[in-house]
Amino acid sequence: MVVVIGAGLVGLCIAYELSKRGAEVRVLEAAEPASAASWAGAGMLAPDTEEMPSAAMRALCAYGLTLYPSFVEELRAESGLDVRLRLDGILSLAFTDEEANRAAARVAALNDEGIAARWLDRTQTIALEPAVSGAVLGASFVEREGHVDNRRLGWALRAACERRGVRIESGCGASAVETDARRVRGVRTKDGFLSASTVINAAGAWAGELAGIPQSALVAVRPVKGQMLALAMPRRLVQRIVWFPGGYVVPRQDGRLLVGATVEDTGFDVRVTAHGVKWLLDGALDALPALRDLAVTETWAGLRPGSIDGLPFIGFGALAGYAVATGHYRNGILLAPATARLLADLIEERAPAVDPSAFSPLRMHSQRPGNAAAKAAT
Ligand code: GLY
Repeated sequence: MVVVIGAGLVGLCIAYELSKRGAEVRVLEAAEPASAASWAGAGMLAPDTEEMPSAAMRALCAYGLTLYPSFVEELRAESGLDVRLRLDGILSLAFTDEEANRAAARVAALNDEGIAARWLDRTQTIALEPAVSGAVLGASFVEREGHVDNRRLGWALRAACERRGVRIESGCGASAVETDARRVRGVRTKDGFLSASTVINAAGAWAGELAGIPQSALVAVRPVKGQMLALAMPRRLVQRIVWFPGGYVVPRQDGRLLVGATVEDTGFDVRVTAHGVKWLLDGALDALPALRDLAVTETWAGLRPGSIDGLPFIGFGALAGYAVATGHYRNGILLAPATARLLADLIEERAPAVDPSAFSPLRMHSQRPGNAAAKAAT
């Protein structure tokens, strides 16, 4: 039995992938499935527009993007739900010469890699997105990127998991991993003990808080708050994702325009603050003044799981049978299907499509991987 702790998009994708490969999987969720960062996110799929801390991370994110079209088709067949994948490009606005130079250099670098991207001048930018301020100098446009409706994705994944016999237990409260001297034995919740050959910590920003993990196998994950809001967009004023200095807007098919996102180190606080809302609206209205009369219909905040080096933790660590999948920071939705494939390959001791060494939980420690020991003891 594999127990996944955390029913966010990463945990649900892992459960879904493992169940497809024939494993018996149970998911333990402290609260409600896909209700934390998975609900709060904007569903951005942007390996070229997001700043990446390393080439390994860029490669993983690019791989994650390539998986999406077939992944959502498969989920539609399994769940009957359209998760509204839109890969219609991301526009990044430049308002200063420095921003324009940086954007043009990025376009050139992407083109060198064979990725379709262009620099648009002011007229071309406003022709593409008429709500953009006339103060814009131009924009970079990356064609392959886009977004998915992450809330619908949570519903679809949950349905697909349940259809495949994955048991998802909500409201479990805090879980504690139980170990012996050599390996993980299972997980204890307020409802009792669940024996497991493999335990996967996919608890997002809470992954570092999981009880029962020996010091040598702990991963350092910190919550990084993102506040967001939604505007009601009666006319489709914005067609595609538009980035501007400090933020972005994401148009949803249901008529909402999401505005994101703050990046704050304030622990587990998920309050929406006056300053946060002002900051979001100031940035959005400077870049897109045509939004000024839209109604604010929703505000919320979520916690991204951040790591010290900006890379996720994916794989086995110092404790046999115990794997981690967290620390995806701003790219959790993009990386959920890729993380699931990678981790499932590591569990099955198959070579993954992307070199996982940069994401090993052991990079913060000196111990050797524990999966072989886990296999031997299973
Ligand atoms: N992926 C965008 C954000 O985390 O704000």
